[in-house]
Amino acid sequence: MIILKLGGSVITRKKSLTPTLDSFNLIRIAREISTSSYHKLIIVHGAGSFGHPYAKEYLIGNEIKTTQELKRKRKGFSKTQNSVKNLNAMVCQYLLEQEIPAVSIQPSSFIETNNKRIININLDLITKYLELGFVPVIYGDVVLDRDNKIKMAVLSGDQIVKYIAENLKPEKVILGSDVDGIYNKDPKKYTDAYLMKIVTSHQELESTDNTQTVDVTGGMGGKLSELLELAKIGIESEIINATHNNNIKNALNGVKGIGTLIRNEK
Ligand code: ADP
Ligand code: IPE
Repeated sequence: MIILKLGGSVITRKKSLTPTLDSFNLIRIAREISTSSYHKLIIVHGAGSFGHPYAKEYLIGNEIKTTQELKRKRKGFSKTQNSVKNLNAMVCQYLLEQEIPAVSIQPSSFIETNNKRIININLDLITKYLELGFVPVIYGDVVLDRDNKIKMAVLSGDQIVKYIAENLKPEKVILGSDVDGIYNKDPKKYTDAYLMKIVTSHQELESTDNTQTVDVTGGMGGKLSELLELAKIGIESEIINATHNNNIKNALNGVKGIGTLIRNEK
């Protein structure tokens, strides 16, 4: 089994403040997936400009102190949920056009968090879809949170990747983003940043801050935290540049070392 995350930076124009699809990347990636060999595949995708701007505008995940705030957050939650659902519908549509049997799985309809972390969820349905040869497509979403102070949270695709991987133990976890992997510092801000081929801890990097786009789920730093948790339990992952031709195809076909490997030891 392979878990593949398509970052919001790849399938949308993440810098845009209104929802904007990157259909050029999406069609190419759908073609690459359809022509590569995998046995079981779960696709997780990010929200990009379909989710982050709303989640930020309505401060989803911040404390709710008054009924006025609850009312406003409710509106923001619905708007975000609707927007990422639309993105998911488009992603599934592009996959289907390449004969990939995509089935949409909506996180907000069955996942709850407690203080922003996923509470035990039942993955049986996903397992059944996989056994029947479907490709489940799940995504970053807004969800209800059991912490009474916040009540609602933003759930990143990266946390979903981590949760599914630790429970279903895939052979491979691939994360496609818009950079070649993890650098010692943000390559979009520092021209002297260099690519790390293997990362085993946060300490190896100078920074993972993300000020280039509105990202409410922690950008590269958040991603690395999830992946280091996986590394601790022996699940290796790789961050690759999904904006470059054939990287996804090669990674699905078993090529390793295209980007940055996140694992427990050097
Ligand atoms: P995605 O939308 O693909 O899930 P994010 O936008 O959350 O990805 O994170 C990718 C971005 O993180 C890159 O575009 C890059 O500008 C930024 N970034 C910050 N620090 C680093 C770093 N040390 N190495 C690589 N990218 C970094
Ligand atoms: C964010 O998901 C979900 C919402 C903002 C609703 P991700 O954090 O996985 O999205 P990207 O990949 O960074 O855009």
